[in-house]
Amino acid sequence: MNDVVEVVVPLGERSYTVAVGHGARTLASSMIPEHSRRVAVVTQAGIPDIYIPQFEGRAVSVHIIGDGEAHKSLATIERLCSEFAREGLTRGDVVVAVGGGMVTDVAGFAAASYHRGIPVVHVATSLLAMIDAAVGGKTGVNIPEGKNLVGAFWQPHGVICELDALATLPEREMRCGLGEMAKYHFIVREDLDELPFNERVARCVGIKAEIVAADEREGGVRAFLNYGHTLAHALEIGTDFEIAHGEAVSIGVLYAAHLAEAMGRIDAERVDEHYRVVHEVYSLRNPLPTGVTVERLIEDMGRDKKAIDSLTFVLDSANGLDVVSGIQEHDVRSALDALVQRLG
Ligand code: GLY
Repeated sequence: MNDVVEVVVPLGERSYTVAVGHGARTLASSMIPEHSRRVAVVTQAGIPDIYIPQFEGRAVSVHIIGDGEAHKSLATIERLCSEFAREGLTRGDVVVAVGGGMVTDVAGFAAASYHRGIPVVHVATSLLAMIDAAVGGKTGVNIPEGKNLVGAFWQPHGVICELDALATLPEREMRCGLGEMAKYHFIVREDLDELPFNERVARCVGIKAEIVAADEREGGVRAFLNYGHTLAHALEIGTDFEIAHGEAVSIGVLYAAHLAEAMGRIDAERVDEHYRVVHEVYSLRNPLPTGVTVERLIEDMGRDKKAIDSLTFVLDSANGLDVVSGIQEHDVRSALDALVQRLG
């Protein structure tokens, strides 16, 4: 195991460590509660067994969940909780999620619900889970009325970002993680691209840790983590989720720049910086999906979870990001025109 970086999410008695590194999974057994006797590992068939940590002296059961959004459901939570009950898990035991963001969201919610809450440790094997989903305590599942509409804030006992897993991550999943990584460049004004990749992952975790510590329940600054997400969610809905979340975020970040420029919050140079990060640093040259109309995008953006009144966006300015409400439709339209023109 080389150079594991440990980042603390400081939440008082519920503080925990995120260990980032190659081979970091060997630290998982030190993260589970000392007195736990049973470990329920929740994972997917496609996740190689080598990423399932060893838990000496404990009874380990493995629970496989399906791939794809259809399995991110209350039915999966019910099945997992039944399996935990049949294994005899009590509140003193622990769930260990091994996989990407879907696994950590589902296993985290099952852990939050079972026995009214048992500890969970996340072993993140995708870039998106490492720098976003596994850290910060958001868990949940979809219902037919919307994605992630049912869930709980349930902070893990610890998180492992197993960098070994990135070597075999499918290319599209890696690009989705990079879409989320790009957004961190604008949450903080640091030259993240100057950091070696492993350190950059740890820095993104650190940025998220600071934000979650400041605003665990998303009453304020945690919304910054949704930079680029308002258009991204509309693109996901408009394409029936054919565009992946991280791909949509990479476009949403560029759109947020155009909107901030249309509103006079940033200049053209800052818009160019968004394109430099997304197109050049991360090579995320995702085109706008065909078949989504401007009208549909505007309608879906208005329905976004963050829309407090009318259209609400996280937008850049010379002093950093702000949550901005009451945005005029003509600015939304002219920014969409600018995006279409620039993406070609
Ligand atoms: N994924 C955004 C958040 O954790 O708040």
